[in-house]
Amino acid sequence: MTAAPFPSDFLWGVAFAANQAEGAYDADGKGLSQADVVPFPQAMDYVDLHEVMSPTPERIAQAAAAVGTAGYPKRNGSLFYTHWEEDVELFARMGIRALRMSIAWSRIFPNGDDAEPNEAGLVFYERLFTRLRERGIEPVVTMSHYEMPLHLVTEYGGWANRAVVRLFERYAETILRRYRGLVRYWLTFNEINTTVIEPYTGGGVVDDGTGDRMQRAYQALHHQFVASALATKLAHEIDPEAKVGCMLARMLHYPASSDPADVQQAQHDNDMNLVHTDVQVRGAYPGIIRRYWRENGIELQIAEGDERILAENTVDFLSFSYYMTLVSAVDPTKYGATGGNLFSTVKNPHLETSEWGWHLDPIGIRIALTDLWTRYQVPLFIVENGLGASDRVEEDGSVRDDYRIDYMRRHLGQVAEAIADGVDLMGYTVWGGIDIVSASTSQMTKRYGLIHVDLDDEGNGTGNRTPKASFDWYRRVIASGGATL
Ligand code: BG6
Repeated sequence: MTAAPFPSDFLWGVAFAANQAEGAYDADGKGLSQADVVPFPQAMDYVDLHEVMSPTPERIAQAAAAVGTAGYPKRNGSLFYTHWEEDVELFARMGIRALRMSIAWSRIFPNGDDAEPNEAGLVFYERLFTRLRERGIEPVVTMSHYEMPLHLVTEYGGWANRAVVRLFERYAETILRRYRGLVRYWLTFNEINTTVIEPYTGGGVVDDGTGDRMQRAYQALHHQFVASALATKLAHEIDPEAKVGCMLARMLHYPASSDPADVQQAQHDNDMNLVHTDVQVRGAYPGIIRRYWRENGIELQIAEGDERILAENTVDFLSFSYYMTLVSAVDPTKYGATGGNLFSTVKNPHLETSEWGWHLDPIGIRIALTDLWTRYQVPLFIVENGLGASDRVEEDGSVRDDYRIDYMRRHLGQVAEAIADGVDLMGYTVWGGIDIVSASTSQMTKRYGLIHVDLDDEGNGTGNRTPKASFDWYRRVIASGGATL
């Protein structure tokens, strides 16, 4: 590759979510969120991760009654709520141009259906956004990142209930008006496809044993699509400068073999993943999902006017997370399996895996970019990509995370190739930026940061922040506009 192809206004940045970073789960009027009742797996008698990420009504009630942070790592996060000023200074030193973060809905409307917003919550983000702008950092804000108010889960049935659309609209309107001029880039729902993969995490849909969970999950997803379109409409009305994006966990599938049946299976799996962006970018449900509903007895309640709302309020850009690729096979039992956070997949013999079993596939990010660009022709934004690893702190306090540098270098190198091929990419925000609690395993020790946070899985530690080797590397890359990759 020759000169760095990254545009001069490229949004180099880092990313995290409120429920994994902020902590202070009950401070200043915040209500409990769905993430605050997700326990630390090792501390409980759970059999697998899906059970942890998908608690039963009994588990939720038990957790909601528990006071304090012990056993519930997301209540503690990495203390961003109390350390944000120091963290913003570190981000400014890193030279980032964008911070992708989320607003905890339960700081603004503690129960989700409160008559008035919580002023203390609004002030927190206002101060943060103001400071970010002063430091030349553009906030890229997700409205909902796995953190709906718990009250909406337990009393409304989560997103399966149509009433939640209106409550979200009010929340969206509140933050759009309050942060007009401070926030220009909005994302509506994080990884919206999670709602049909892990319905509790994505849509607050609890497994109550009634067996109709997929019906409720698809209904929840439909409500989120409508809510997202309405929020996009509001954003454009309130601030004509605002740009709104959807957010997809891009799950790029390769065929396990050149057997046309495997190739067709991979195409099917890719198309099912892209149903979400088909709706949010093109404005309509594609045939493949209608067939899936028909064949699986799913009957969606689509209210009059919904399809028009979806068609008229498509997004301005498409953002996505990319961590790994998956493999499709008509008969997956012929192959071994490996992991991911929300799923496992057929093992790809050509790829190495991370400590947590995720395929490492830098070329895949180029394929994902090119493919999304070809299909949609709207600006793209990589808002999550990063390596979860167990870092070692040396005696002098340093963390030499060469493996993370290598991961970023290889992925960004492929991103550069895609840009050189003409892909319109707005930015790249590396996941974590600073160590945070893992979404799936709730571990602090599965570290994603370029800044180390002295906290362990139980939340013990000083909370001190220390830049890792990757911090300096990324600072140089940003300063050079990608030339020093
Ligand atoms: C994405 C989520 O799926 O993956 C993040 O949007 C999450 O919230 C990230 O942290 C990495 O997954 P995990 O489970 O390792 O934290």
